[in-house]
Amino acid sequence: MLGTCVIGLQWGDEAKGKIVDLLTPGHKHVVRYQGGANAGHTVVVGDEVYKLSLLPSGILTPDVTCIIAGGVVLNPAKVIEELDELISRGITHTDNLKLSDRTHVIFPWHFAEDKILDNQTGGESIGTTLRGIGPCYRDKVARSHAVRLGDMYRPNFRERLDHIVSDKNRVLAAMSDGQLEALDAAAIYDEYSRYAERLESHVCDTTELLLTSLEAGEKVLFEGAQGALLDVDHGTYPYVTSSNSSGVGISNGSGVPGKYLDRVLGVVKAYSTRVGGGPFPTELLDETGQYLRDRGNEYGTVTRRPRRCGWLDAVAVRYTARLGGVTGLCIMLMDVLSGLDELKICTAYEIDGKSTRVFPSHVDELRKAKPIYETLPGWHEEVTQCRSYDELPANAHNYMDRIAELIGVPVDVVSVGPGRAQTIVVNQALVPST
Ligand code: GDP
Ligand code: IMO
Ligand code: MG
Repeated sequence: MLGTCVIGLQWGDEAKGKIVDLLTPGHKHVVRYQGGANAGHTVVVGDEVYKLSLLPSGILTPDVTCIIAGGVVLNPAKVIEELDELISRGITHTDNLKLSDRTHVIFPWHFAEDKILDNQTGGESIGTTLRGIGPCYRDKVARSHAVRLGDMYRPNFRERLDHIVSDKNRVLAAMSDGQLEALDAAAIYDEYSRYAERLESHVCDTTELLLTSLEAGEKVLFEGAQGALLDVDHGTYPYVTSSNSSGVGISNGSGVPGKYLDRVLGVVKAYSTRVGGGPFPTELLDETGQYLRDRGNEYGTVTRRPRRCGWLDAVAVRYTARLGGVTGLCIMLMDVLSGLDELKICTAYEIDGKSTRVFPSHVDELRKAKPIYETLPGWHEEVTQCRSYDELPANAHNYMDRIAELIGVPVDVVSVGPGRAQTIVVNQALVPST
């Protein structure tokens, strides 16, 4: 088992950061391969809470190299801010961070475009994180106005910026009806040259590094951002992010071929959440939804927006688990469900009077989907102190057994609180040392 992948199976915030932190020891590298500072991954170590956005969640473990691979869109100011924060909190091994020279760089025009474009899908707005993610990926694919991290160290960087900024100023003026102040290429050059200088010792060809490492038999952990339902190709388009967050993005984002990706852990909340716009069949707009939000502290890590909450959707998760080739489930935030008399799992959708287990490819169909629920008994005991599977209430066992059955994948990890210790590893092969 060389490559272990951790991906979210819902709409993000499934607690991937906690799982990555847990699994990091024993790995040579931890790799972020898509997304950018739209991600917010929380790692709790004792009394310390770390909110990581661009840096891989493995960064808190010494002797591990953390890699931001080429599929990520990189906001250099944010990398520096996160590094400085960690250093100020006594994390001394941040030199272990490697940044791919292939990452595409986020510039001020990307933030401006994100703000203007977010509500222009012709309907409900996407509700992006406004971190410039979509516009940067668009420029990457279009090629003509893109800058990769490696380009910032080339002699023609200034010339290239002048050309891009002059075009972007015309585009932004038109998009904003002349409301936006023109961007100043010289000021941007100065600012980004400072970032380039600060980050230079971290920049390298991470594809070569990873391939060499895997060829030598070293273990690599891949950290997904967002969740599979936000995947640009396979998610609830257009209410998605702009990268392949489903697991199909691991190879293209990291440069590591599928033959090394042996194990795929699908992280899933014991219920569902979504932040931003788009259809959400099992959303609860009642007091049960508020109960989940309150107990789960369901407010966005990046934007602090209240997350939309609902019952677990096994139609959606079965789809994303199949799409990701998931080998084991990590069922997170089980403690949040304590105190509910009954729990519901969506086992099928009714669309136009017909029942189906197929997740629709078009949002218009998904909007019509009425969840068909199975009701299971809940439990009232608090489970945050449980440290073994057997200590969990029988109804919690039943609930998870049913999820595993509906998804078709066994449960590898159960989480009963944010702390490292509040984790029950069912599949002992994941952490050989415990
Ligand atoms: P990520 O983006 O997938 O890494 O997830 P986030 O960090 O955005 O959101 C998950 C939140 O749940 C964080 O605040 C975690 O500290 C918290 N968390 C993780 N596992 C558990 C758990 O088992 N129970 C509870 N109550 N909170 C958890
Ligand atoms: P982590 O890694 C939850 C959502 C945004 C919006 C849509 C597009 O913490 O799970 P973007 O800024 O990417 O163009 O926004 O995707 N979104 C997330 N939701 N968790 C995330 O990341 C998210 N990253 C993006 O709310 O609906
Ligand atoms: Mg998050």
